[in-house]
Parts: sequence; structure tokens; C-alpha cells
Amino acid sequence: MSHERDLDYDAWLQETPLRGLACPPPLRALVVFGSPSEPVLETAAAEWTRAVQAAFGERPVRLQPSLDAYPDAPFVAMGLVPELPLGLRELAAKALEAAVSDDAYAIVSTGGNIAVVAHTPAGLLYGAFHLIRRLRLGQPLHEPCVSSPHNALRMLDHWDNADGTIERGYAGQSLFYRGGQIDFDERRVADYARLLASIGINAIAINNVNVHPIETRFLTEAYLPGIARLADIFRRYGIRLFLSINFASPVDLGDLPTADPLDARVEAWWRAAADRIYRHIPDFGGFLVKADSEFRPGPFTYGRDHKDGANMLARALAPHGGLVIWRAFVYNCLMDWRDRRSDRARAAYDHFVPLDGLFLDNVLIQIKHGPIDFQVREPVSPLFGGLRSTNVMLELQITQEYTGQQRDVCYLAPMWKQVLDFDTHARGEGSTVAEIARGALFGRPHGGMAGVANVGDSPNWTGHSLAQANLYAFGRLAWDPSLDPAEIAREWAQLTYGDEADVVRTVEAILMASWPAYEAYTAPLGVGFMVNPGHHDGPNPEGYEYSKWGTYHYADWRGIGVDRTMATGTGFTGQYHEPVRSLYEHLETCPDELLLFFHHVPYTHALHSGKTVIQHIYDTHFDGVEAVAWMIEAWRRLAGRIDPVRFERVLARLLDQYDRAVEWRDVINTYFYRKCGIPDDRGRLIYP
Ligand code: GCU
Repeated sequence: MSHERDLDYDAWLQETPLRGLACPPPLRALVVFGSPSEPVLETAAAEWTRAVQAAFGERPVRLQPSLDAYPDAPFVAMGLVPELPLGLRELAAKALEAAVSDDAYAIVSTGGNIAVVAHTPAGLLYGAFHLIRRLRLGQPLHEPCVSSPHNALRMLDHWDNADGTIERGYAGQSLFYRGGQIDFDERRVADYARLLASIGINAIAINNVNVHPIETRFLTEAYLPGIARLADIFRRYGIRLFLSINFASPVDLGDLPTADPLDARVEAWWRAAADRIYRHIPDFGGFLVKADSEFRPGPFTYGRDHKDGANMLARALAPHGGLVIWRAFVYNCLMDWRDRRSDRARAAYDHFVPLDGLFLDNVLIQIKHGPIDFQVREPVSPLFGGLRSTNVMLELQITQEYTGQQRDVCYLAPMWKQVLDFDTHARGEGSTVAEIARGALFGRPHGGMAGVANVGDSPNWTGHSLAQANLYAFGRLAWDPSLDPAEIAREWAQLTYGDEADVVRTVEAILMASWPAYEAYTAPLGVGFMVNPGHHDGPNPEGYEYSKWGTYHYADWRGIGVDRTMATGTGFTGQYHEPVRSLYEHLETCPDELLLFFHHVPYTHALHSGKTVIQHIYDTHFDGVEAVAWMIEAWRRLAGRIDPVRFERVLARLLDQYDRAVEWRDVINTYFYRKCGIPDDRGRLIYP
């Protein structure tokens, strides 16, 4: 069957035989310690069995567990600590001693046998996938290890609509809905769930944060049975389901005249809704809420604030152990470009910091990584470190809305890594976003990372096959932010395309070159948003310049950039802790790559690199195109070493990307040349 299959469908869980390798003896037998009726545990065992069979054509024999004696033949064991035979139990307990999370696993080795051990079935599932990864990467299976996820919540946010479309989706239609109904291919959703579980994802919001009339009815008996069937599939893979909700549901569903969060009827309405959901989905995760943002309803309508809204929902979910994930993406989207003092970047902090400490313990504030909107380069949102007594969560965009829409390759892990490693200095040195998002820095009960999903029903899940690397990297970093993006790229390449060294090296090199390349040929030096309005693809330097959305760059004939300093600008820099605040405040210290985010400068301003701003713009735009040309050459050299379907699919995207990069280069270069009249000092062709 495998030869008929689209190999991209298997993504990083390839099932090709591991040629030239005999099945190591312990892999011929599997013994599972734990209740056989525990579905996640069975999933773990089934995944391991499937992987061994795919690799060696041999199905491991399932041995019966016994608390008294080990089987005679060598084996792989999977077991929950209390169910293990005594000696192994002690070994396992010791290995897991330091692991705080229920999702942790350890691999221990006893007398030639290999045991995956954990405190929970989910832990075993992650351990099983780790062993599978080792198998496919050719790493030693026996080596003892222990791994505990950094983040408790490792979540995907789907922006899927009930009509089957996906907001900012670039890989086909929804996996969950068609024509206003919950309508899905069970097999496909299960295959998706296993991909997610294999990278440690444990939560999923299945509908768009913009909740339209049909999805508003997801909370009703008309839709809950279908949603529960989806939850059943994800549950087998240790993934809890969340719903995005419409804050005005009690009104929009015709039940109440108001959605005022302080009205007792409204609170009772949400309690009843929560009770109803939990009757269908006992382990329901909770609500994801976009309120008072981009025309979505919220507590502001009733003169209330975010704390009133979030806490009301939190009280409804609390008896069931549910969470409210309330988004911080709140800003005035009816701004006036004439007013140079107003600043969208300030908005989230200005709205939420005054409410710090007032949210209930089962509320998390989900913060986009930057203060604007998932641009190719932004500073980290100062809400990280601004909120100290509130649970927070980091929101990343895996779907490439502003980073090439999965037509351009743009491997985002290096950007995410910079965000995670960013030191806010909120509690002195070492106050990284990674430590804040997980909740550790301020001792919060909840925390985590969410990524806006980049998948759809296209045969390869993500449209651009190389965009699978972004999903993979998101999961790996959510589990362990200390991982190196290049290493993740290498791992992904090997799992996806096999272990030929040259193939792995080349794919890694293309991925690692891709974000810098994309940044180089698009909006320069952190200024962002030079895209076409609406769909947000392709160059349009003034697409948003005179609009109401608050994303301006203020280019004129002398210079460009947004003055966000405290001294002369919008004061946004003041939202950071020292020494970050001063770093960004002063031209002399502001990093080049963010210069135009924080300062308005003349085109002749000299960067730290020694180049003028205008020469930097010209150079990076020519270089960016060259980088894409290099990627094409590098990929072409892999012809014959990657199966033709996958090879041609990526090649076609890279060729398309070249044309797109040229378009960006020429539009941006000409735009600036026309603004300032300064020629390229290397005399390259810039269209007048
Ligand atoms: C961006 C995006 C919207 C989305 C919004 C959000 O503005 O373009 O499609 O709804 O972010 O995150 O809520």
C-alpha cells in the first residue's frame, strides 16, 4: 500500500521500511503494564506496534503482563508506574522523581529490555512517540532518559469555520466541517490527532476565534453530539477539546436581552451552557474568547471590562475544571492615521495591565508574541512581564498569514525561539518569555503555548510540504523551548525524507535560510505591514497607510518608521522593563532589525552595520531574491533522492516563491527610490 500513498500524508511519521536493519530482539515483543481498557495507553501500544511493523515488517508479539515475573524473551515494556513489577517500578519511580508534569515519561533499560514508563497514559503515549522517533532517527533505543514538558498547555487553535473555510488557511478546507455541519472523515481526523500527539500537543480549539452565527450554535444540543464525536477521537490521543465562543451567545441565540457579564441571568445562562457541554464532553477543556476585538462582542458593550467577562465564564467552567483562555488581542481598529500619538502597539498592555491580579485562577490571558500582529519581525509583547499576577499563554501563528501564506517557505522556529528566549527582565535577568508563558516565573497555576494551526484537508496537510516543519517545530518547542531550531529542522528532515546525509543537510539549510530570506525581501527593519489589505499577501507599501487599522510606517521623502519612544513618540518603549526600555528608547542602542518599529529616521541614517537605511533596504531586497534562487538550486540537487511526487511539489512552490520574491523586491525598492531619490550605490536595476 505504501507505494500508492502520498508520502507527505505521513508527514514526520513515515512508514517506509528501515532497510538493511534487522529487528533488534527486544522489539519483537511488547508488554504493557496498565489497564487494557485505558484508551490512551492502548494508543501508545498501537503506535509502537505500528512503527515496528512498518520499520521491520514484523509485528511485535504482545506478551501478558505479570507483576511477579519478567517474560523470558527480551521485550519492550510500556507501563504506568504503579502497575510495573517491583524492580522496574522502583527504577521507574526514581527516573521520574524530578519530573513534575503528569505528562512526563522516562525510558529505562533493564537487562537488555527497554521500558517506557510514566505516571499517566498520556505520558506513556509521549514516551512511545519518543521511542519511535529514536527508531526512525537511528538513535540508541536503550539510552535512559527522562522528559517532562515545559508547558502544561500545548495547544493548537484552529481558525476553522462551520462552512468549511479556514480563516487565514492556506491548505484547503477544514478537517472538521462542511456546509455548516460538523462533518468529518473519522480516519483523517484520527490521523491528524496522532500527528499532533506525536509532537506533544494536548489541547485543540476546533473553531475560529471569530465566531459566526452557525458556530455560536455549537453550544447547543444541535451541535454538541457531533462535537463530542470529535472530542472522542482526540481523547484517544490525549488531546482535550476547546471551543471558541461568541460572548454575545445568550443574545444571539435568542435566549436573553443582554450578555452583560454582571447580570445574574447571563451568568446562569453560561453555567447551563457549561453543564450541557460537560454532559457531552466530560473532559472538555474550556473556552477560547476573542472579545471586544475587531468588532467581536464583549463586556465593553455593557460598560464592563475584561475581568468581568472572563471571570463570569470562568465561574461557569470552574466546577468542571474548565479554563477560560481570553485573548489579549484588543485594540482600537478604527484609528486615525492623522494622529501620530495613538499607537496600536500599546493597546494590549494598556487594556490588561490595570487588571493584573483580578482574574480568577482558571483564566489565562493569551498574548500574541508581538504587540501588533504576527509580522515577520516584531519586538516581544511587553505584556510578557507586564502581567505578574495573571496566568498568561503565548500565542504564535503557525499558519503563515504574514509570512508567505504557505506559498513561500518560511521556517518560523528561529523566530519563535528568539521570542521564547527573550529576556523581559521582569524579575531581573533570566525572566524569559518561556519562563513567563509556562507560569513558572511568577508562580502561576496555569500557562502554556498556543499556535494558530496551519493545516487543512490538502493531501499533504499544509499546502507547502515544507510548512509541515512549522507544525512539527511548534510542538517540539512547546514541549521543550530549549531545543535548537536547526536541530529540530534536521530531525524533521530526517524523519520526513529519510537519513541520507546530504538530503537532511540540504533541507535543514533551506529551512534555516528561509525566515531571514523572507524578512529580507519584504517589509524592512521591523516596520511591518506593507501587504495588500484584506488577504495580507504580496507587496503593497501603502496598503494600510491611510486606513483605520493602526499599522502605519509614516514613510515620506525624508525618512520612515514609527517613533515609539517616551521622549518624542508614543511612549510604547515605556511598557518594557529596564534595561530593555532604554535599549529600544535610544537610537544608539536599538537593534537594527527593529529600528523602524521604534524610531522614525532619515533614509541616510547609519545602522550599526555601517550601512545607511536606504542601502540596507536595497541590499536586503536583492539578497532575499538571491537566497530564493539558492534554495531552488539546492533543492534541485536533491532530484532523484526524494520521491518524485514530494520533490516536484516543493520545487513548484519554490519556483513560485522566486517570482513572488522578485515582485516584493521590485515594489519595495522602487517605492523607496521614488520616495527619496537616492540611488543604489551598487548600481543595480531599480525601476524608476
Ligand atoms: C489577524 C488576522 C485575523 C484574525 C485576527 C485575530 O488580524 O488577520 O484574521 O481574526 O488576527 O487574531 O483575531
